[in-house]
Parts: sequence; C-alpha cells; structure tokens
Amino acid sequence: MPWDKKDLLGLEYLTAEEIVTILDTARAFSEISTRTIKKVPALRGKTVVNLFYEPSTRTRASFELAEMRLSADIINFNVSVSSVSKGETLLDTVRNLCAYKVDVIVIRHAMSGAPMYLARKVDCSVVNAGDGTHEHPTQALLDIYTLREKLGELRGRHVVIVGDVAHSRVARSNIWGLTKLGARVTLVGPPTLIPREIEQLGVQVTSDLDEALRDADAVNMLRIQREREKQVLFPSLREYAKLFGLGQERLKRHSRSLIVMHPGPINRGVELSGSVADGPNSVILEQVTNGLAVRMAVLFLVTGGTTLHPEHLTS
Ligand code: CP
Repeated sequence: MPWDKKDLLGLEYLTAEEIVTILDTARAFSEISTRTIKKVPALRGKTVVNLFYEPSTRTRASFELAEMRLSADIINFNVSVSSVSKGETLLDTVRNLCAYKVDVIVIRHAMSGAPMYLARKVDCSVVNAGDGTHEHPTQALLDIYTLREKLGELRGRHVVIVGDVAHSRVARSNIWGLTKLGARVTLVGPPTLIPREIEQLGVQVTSDLDEALRDADAVNMLRIQREREKQVLFPSLREYAKLFGLGQERLKRHSRSLIVMHPGPINRGVELSGSVADGPNSVILEQVTNGLAVRMAVLFLVTGGTTLHPEHLTS
C-alpha cells in the first residue's frame, strides 16, 4: 500500500496509486459504520485538532465523527472565541496547538495555500479541509469513491462538472483526481465562471449542458458561491437555472442511469430542482455517507498507518 506522506494537501500532489490507496483503505473502513458498536482503536493515542476558519456542515461533522470512530482524542477549535479575535496569526495559533504534541491539524481556511504553508512549518500532519478556491481534496475523494462504487473502474468514463468552476475548490480537486484515474472530464458553465486556460488540465469546456450530458455517466452540479463572487458574473439566478440547472425535464432528455451528484450545500431551484436532488438518480446522501469512510482513511494514513491489520478494525 503506497503511502509515505505526512499531509493531505491536494489531489494535485498525489499519484493515481496514492489516490487508489486512500479509496481502498476507505472501503475497508466503511463497514465500521454499519456495526452496532461503531468504534475501532486505529487512532487510539493520537490527537486531532479541527481548525475551521470557514463555516461547514458536512466536512466538519464527518471529520469529527471519523476521529471519534477511530478512537482519537479531539480538540474542536472554536475560532470565534479564540485568541484569533485578538489578532493572533494563523501560524502562531497552529504552533501553539502543536506545542501540545497533537498529531493532526484538520484545517479549513479562506486563504488558498494556507494548509501548504502550515505543512512546511509544523511537524504534525496537516489535512486540507478546503482552502480558498484552491482544493478540497477529501470532497473530491468522496466524490470519486462514490463514482467507483457505482461505475467500477473510472478509466474512459465521462464526468460532467457544471457551474461555478472559477470559485470551486471542489471542481479543481475533482479535475486532478478524475483525470489521474483516466476519466474524461467536461466542464460546463457560463464563460465568466470557467477560468481561462483550464483546458490545460486535460478537460473539455462547453457552455452547452445538454450536449455535454449526451454521453455522460455522471454529472456533478457545483454550488453557486455567491459569497466568493466579487462582481455579478451572470444576469440572474433564474437565467442560470434555465441554462445550467438540472430539473426533471432536462434529466428526462438524457440517460436514465445518469448519476447526479452535488457537494452540498444545495441551492434548491438553482443548481438542482428539489425533485432531482431527492430523486432516484441522486447519490447526494451516499456522497455524505462515503465522506466518513474517506476521512477515516485519510486520518489513518497520514498518522502513519500503512497496513490495515485486523486489530485496527476490531471494536
Ligand atoms: N461539501 C462541503 O464542503 O460542505 P460543507 O461546507 O458543509 O463542509
């Protein structure tokens, strides 16, 4: 099992083999959540700090749950009532936490590159839970895990990513991961939301969603991130929904087996209609479930776990 990294910073920095190692480890851990006693000793004696400088529901909850299920000790650092409000820098905050000999810092930060910066400065492992518009590696890993559960090998499969690619760390991590595993990726959105020269990452770009969906195996509908837009980049949400949203009518025009994904939180009626989000093609809640196993795998690997022994998985 090839894994010798201290940190998980982004899928750009992993090989296809390392990505598959995380996914295979996640599959082994996924069974734990189906047990009556959902706890194993794989991280016993390790301490993890959850350091979220931006809001989160799914990522934060699943990291916390993953740490608890692996028997780690946890500090949930509350930025708003910490000395950050007195002007303490990110590096000083993290160095002080590391002085307690913690093993892992899970960080979400609005500044792209914050986890890389910290990983070079501290000895403990750093796990990127989303940095600015750069990467959200565990989200892409859970997306890819979900696709592999549904489709098997991803080589040659066609995945369409729709929407606000310009502001999306989820899109960037998915592009790195999917292309490394041999999938074909098409980006769809208004030109104002698709970065120039993104084709250099080995993806196709179009603004015609129906054309892109013609032979797609899966579609990942990105959230419109109004909080990151510095200017109005499309005329109205109504027009966006008409051109780039997925409702029943559009879904019916395409393959009955099209897999519909969304990283959450959903703007219902914008990216997806409620009936598609909750309908039979949607795997959105399976993505959430799979995120727990993926985050268990990441925590296990960055803390030095290279081989899963039966005792790691015994309650
Ligand atoms: N997908 C995702 O990162 O969701 P949260 O912001 O709720 O963690």
